[in-house]
Amino acid sequence: ALVSMRQLLDHAAEHGYGLPAFNVNNLEQMRAIMEAADQVNAPVIVQASAGARKYAGAPFLRHLILAAVEEFPHIPVVMHQDHGASPDVCQRSIQLGFSSVMMDGSLQEDGKTPSSYEYNAEVTRRVVQFSHACGVSVEGEIGVLGNLETGEAGEEDGVGAEGKLSHDQMLTSVADAVRFVRDTNVDALAIAVGTSHGAYKFTRPPTGEVLRIDRIKEIHAALPNTHIVMHGSSSVPQEWLKIINEFGGDIGETYGVPVEEIVEGIKHGVRKVNIDTDLRLASTGAIRRFMAQHPSEFDPRKYLSKTVEAMKQICLARYQAFGCEGMA
Ligand code: G3H
Ligand code: 13P
Ligand code: NA
Ligand code: ZN
Repeated sequence: ALVSMRQLLDHAAEHGYGLPAFNVNNLEQMRAIMEAADQVNAPVIVQASAGARKYAGAPFLRHLILAAVEEFPHIPVVMHQDHGASPDVCQRSIQLGFSSVMMDGSLQEDGKTPSSYEYNAEVTRRVVQFSHACGVSVEGEIGVLGNLETGEAGEEDGVGAEGKLSHDQMLTSVADAVRFVRDTNVDALAIAVGTSHGAYKFTRPPTGEVLRIDRIKEIHAALPNTHIVMHGSSSVPQEWLKIINEFGGDIGETYGVPVEEIVEGIKHGVRKVNIDTDLRLASTGAIRRFMAQHPSEFDPRKYLSKTVEAMKQICLARYQAFGCEGMA
């Protein structure tokens, strides 16, 4: 059944687990997410970005998620809009049937320029008002995602700040988090603790200086009833980088957010963990390998089913590590 995010996150808090929120753009991702969830009986959050809607078309995306609900009626599914750039975008998503929206007011409407606290609180508060009136949950974001050492926002096109960021912008303060939750009444709070979108998060395995799980603990202590969201939380599996590069790809040395660090966050209030890049890497690796090993094949179902299998293994591993097994 389609459920609101609030329902799932409250359940996760009550039982001390976290939910991966996977981005979805196509049938193969949707199948991987649902087949894995079905296998371990995990609840599901699927999220669609503006880029996803541009790629698949809003009606296709909507029906893809509704098809998942139809095929797996015993799995609760949240249909979440990722990184809404304005209240209008969130409103349109609600009209499309989304059960949850993210108003990302940490950046201005261009999705590039960091905004003021006042702007962020005002647009988020407005979205909370009209969303709650129709039973839709809202995620807000305070702080700007970026690498604490380099000030780079990350590589994703369309989502992420432009230009160098300051250390203060990229590390959410406890005071801002408390004030923002009080001013907006969001259901879930995304914070910045050193992660960023895309594959190029860290140039070496992250230490506690660049990945500030300690800040999550401080924010959770100050806001024990707030559901914390970690964006940019792909782990960038080294085994998939190796496969991609072995079969003609060219991705430089790079590191993501270790699963055990996310698990530490989950012990301290993290309830939603956004993952897109890991599924992209697994799917690219699976296609590259299949193409190289089967040069005469041309039925797309042959290589696309390999992407489903590869992505499904990542989904399974995250459901298991984050404690979602049996929680559906
Ligand atoms: O937050 C970023 C997500 O990974 C979505 O990326 O805008 O390329 O669909 P996208
Ligand atoms: P990754 O790029 O680390 O997968 O993050 C995805 C994300 O935060 C989507 O909102
Ligand atoms: Na989101
Ligand atoms: Zn994000």
